[in-house]
Amino acid sequence: MPETAVLIVAAGRGERAGAGISKQYRNLGGKPVLRWSAEAFLAHPDIRAVRCVIRGEDAEMYRASVGDMGLQDPVIGGATRQESVRNGLEALAASAPQYVLIHDAARPLVSGNAIGRVIGALDGADAAAPFLGVAYTLRRKCARGYETVPRENLFRAQTPQGFRFPAILEAHRAFAGTQATDDIEIAERAGLTIAPVQGEEMNLKLTTAEDFALAERLASSALSDVRTGTGIDAHGFTDGDHVWLCGVKIPHDAGLAGHSDADAGLHALTDAILGAISAADIGVHFPPSDVRWRKAPSHLFLQHAASLVRDLKGIISHVDVTIICERPKVAPYRDAMRARVAEILGIDLERVSVKATTTDGLGFTGRREGIAAQATATVRLPS
Ligand code: CTP
Ligand code: MG
Repeated sequence: MPETAVLIVAAGRGERAGAGISKQYRNLGGKPVLRWSAEAFLAHPDIRAVRCVIRGEDAEMYRASVGDMGLQDPVIGGATRQESVRNGLEALAASAPQYVLIHDAARPLVSGNAIGRVIGALDGADAAAPFLGVAYTLRRKCARGYETVPRENLFRAQTPQGFRFPAILEAHRAFAGTQATDDIEIAERAGLTIAPVQGEEMNLKLTTAEDFALAERLASSALSDVRTGTGIDAHGFTDGDHVWLCGVKIPHDAGLAGHSDADAGLHALTDAILGAISAADIGVHFPPSDVRWRKAPSHLFLQHAASLVRDLKGIISHVDVTIICERPKVAPYRDAMRARVAEILGIDLERVSVKATTTDGLGFTGRREGIAAQATATVRLPS
């Protein structure tokens, strides 16, 4: 199999989509737009390496969106898409892959089948791209109103567009500074042979706010395997002057006994997330017998559980934690706890619920011997 590298161009400003932040970093169905296509390429067995082209000022958003995925270092783009692609190709020149696929970050819902068709077609051509026919009647404005444009022989070109690497690098160098809306246009000018393959309506391009609304529906149907997990934990009081609950330090006239920081809230939540993906329990991932976890801050456990969900290309849709104790009073810390859990998981605040209850003086929590916590997590995985 020829070595295939991928360039995802993500150095645009996304001005037509509005909403302030560049569209490639906006949230789509619980994941950044850029992450969707990066996942699709990484999952493809024929892809060797994935590299993004970004704006220098977006480095932090890039890191937050895909920094954990093991992509090659990003390349800085240019003022036009064409310049961005050329910068990316030049960066790949040293490793000289046989094939390169060039993809717009603005097409998050690209499928493995589409990727496979493009790579397959490069056997017999210098270039390949997904094409879709036109079903609508097309009208062009003219002096007397509108005229109908015959739609036979008209096609909509999508990405990824695939090329034999040396040929497209040379073509981009030769036509630098000219205007082209995609790389197939550059290939045409250079006289390369082009093979069309079947495109997909799902692989839509996010340009306007309306495109986002449609993509949001498609993204949510792509993550339709909804799972729920529950978790329970308890720790007894011991000498001390504070407790940790949901990642927040709360002054108290006792501490909580435990191997780590004894944060019952985060432990219950970690187990709930592990439960939702059927990944055993916190003790299996972080054995209490392991000295590495002695006094460990429990956000490490929760982050690990969240990373396992991401590895499955899933999202954490919602979490709900209930703290059970008579004292300390949880209410004054509830907002801080919610915010901290949202931060650790990297999800929106409105997807996190933290509640508290007493047990009316009953049981070990009622006797103020310790604190218990219970949690549920709802996870959505690819269908
Ligand atoms: N792109 C790029 N470098 C540029 C311009 C665009 O890498 N200088 C990328 C975009 O990030 C996008 C793809 O090329 O993934 C297609 O461009 P487009 O849809 O036009 O995106 P934007 O330029 O970001 O959007 P707009 O034109 O609305 O500002
Ligand atoms: Mg643009």
